[in-house]
Amino acid sequence: MTKLNIIQVVNPVDGAERLYKLVKEQLEKDQLHVIGLATGSTMIPVYKQWTESPLDFSNVTTFNLDEYVGIAASSPNSYAYFMEHHLFSKKKFKETYIPNGMASNLEEECANYEALLKKHPLDLQLLGVGENGHIAFNEPGTPFDSVTHVATLTKSTLGVNSQYFDNDEKIPETALTMGISSILAAKKIVLLAFGEKKRAAIEKLLEGTITTEWPITKLLHHEDVTVITDLDM
Ligand code: GLP
Repeated sequence: MTKLNIIQVVNPVDGAERLYKLVKEQLEKDQLHVIGLATGSTMIPVYKQWTESPLDFSNVTTFNLDEYVGIAASSPNSYAYFMEHHLFSKKKFKETYIPNGMASNLEEECANYEALLKKHPLDLQLLGVGENGHIAFNEPGTPFDSVTHVATLTKSTLGVNSQYFDNDEKIPETALTMGISSILAAKKIVLLAFGEKKRAAIEKLLEGTITTEWPITKLLHHEDVTVITDLDM
């Protein structure tokens, strides 16, 4: 079992600054060629800082964790739109990949995405966490050996995430997501968790029992995990 590196910060902006330093250092050492990116409100201050900085990502390839099924990239509710809006329209990257939730054959899309990941091993994976301990869209009960797949969202996730849905578009019940083993394949993982709503998930992680009921706990089987949190644990 790994020893987690916990970085206690005072707020999300402070957390974004800590992550910024880490990314800058890795870029300077030429150790950052492929980054796994996440979406969600947690990531907004992170991308804001990157876009306002001189960081050069032009040699970096990115892979996003997940995408809703059936939501077009042009919809503000898609993760493709989120990434374009918060990061890709403002910073140049070498290549950016996001699973295509509009693909006519979703199984094939997942297999292709997993193959791309194998071709471009992740140097760093950024993660948020769901209130129920999900990572990406790997909900409680997801097998630890899962690779990129079509996931069915739980009631809890549908409830939390539907708050962000605009334009009367209905939140899909399924999404494409990197699997738990695709995530664990990254060399380094940094998870960000801010606010009381994330306390239960972080408590489970610190408790140390690895269970599929709390997908976040599988991170304890990885040897290089940093948790940046404003929670006083
Ligand atoms: C979604 C994403 C997760 C993300 C989570 C947390 O469910 N699929 O990858 O970690 O939201 O979102 P937030 O940062 O808004 O709390």
